[in-house]
Amino acid sequence: MLSSYATDSAALKAGKVTPADLVRMKGRGEKIAMVTAYDAPSGRLADRAGVDCVLVGDSAAMTVFGRDATTSVTMEEMVLLTRAARAGVSRALLVADMPFGSFQVSDVAAVEHAIRFVKEAGADAVKLEGAGTSTRRIAAIVGAGVPAVGHLGLTPQSATLLGGFKAQARTAEQAERICQDAVALEDAGCCAIVLEAIPEPVARRISRAARVPTIGIGAGAVCDGQVLVWHDLLGLSEGHVARFVKRYAALGNEIVSVLQQYVSDVRASRFPDASHTYKMPESELELFETTSDDSHPLA
Ligand code: KIV
Repeated sequence: MLSSYATDSAALKAGKVTPADLVRMKGRGEKIAMVTAYDAPSGRLADRAGVDCVLVGDSAAMTVFGRDATTSVTMEEMVLLTRAARAGVSRALLVADMPFGSFQVSDVAAVEHAIRFVKEAGADAVKLEGAGTSTRRIAAIVGAGVPAVGHLGLTPQSATLLGGFKAQARTAEQAERICQDAVALEDAGCCAIVLEAIPEPVARRISRAARVPTIGIGAGAVCDGQVLVWHDLLGLSEGHVARFVKRYAALGNEIVSVLQQYVSDVRASRFPDASHTYKMPESELELFETTSDDSHPLA
């Protein structure tokens, strides 16, 4: 399966990151940086910053739509967000998250939905949570020609089943099972595996054994790459954030402060000033001003 990612493509020649590049980066010991993005401006900024992979995560349910779980986000919503991100991302590998319900029912449904992401939204790859059935779905999707990323550990779509949003694989038995799941996902043909909220020793074992890169979120620095959610990284999310989040900025506060300046300028008539205002030729202005207000059609 790995060999299907090992050939140079036209996209690679154009400088675009491909699934094969991720595998090569792992081989060279180069860390992979992934971030979520849900629209064109953020996709463009991620690209400019040199991010390798942009994930249109189903975390959009919370970050974009303000809901409290990922399960409600629909294919229509995810396709729309992925198409928007595509408009901004030209270099990074664009991965669309398959929402809950889009791949659980059958291989056929999973393949159809993965193809929709490629055809309608321009995704380069899709991501699926879980092992077991998801492993078969990944094999079917990759078999249909769509690169797929796996996701093990804390898989938020199954949070209720897992007993909440908590770290996974903390017993030797669970740790062993997740290592086996990773092998199965790799054998099914996935091009990378996201490892979420698992102990570092477990992530280390998987990362050493797997030929494809592991992308960690709460799985330690031993992973081949890292992923963070846009709003968490930039300080745009409010309230409690998970232990594994590093906030690199407090842009939420910055935005509020800038908006407060705008509100204050509008209220004090400081905005707009002459530099934001259109002029008309002097002669036209004179003509206009000789017209009495009473003759104006709106009078
Ligand atoms: O939906 C998402 O943003 C994700 C990442 C946290 C990996 O799945």
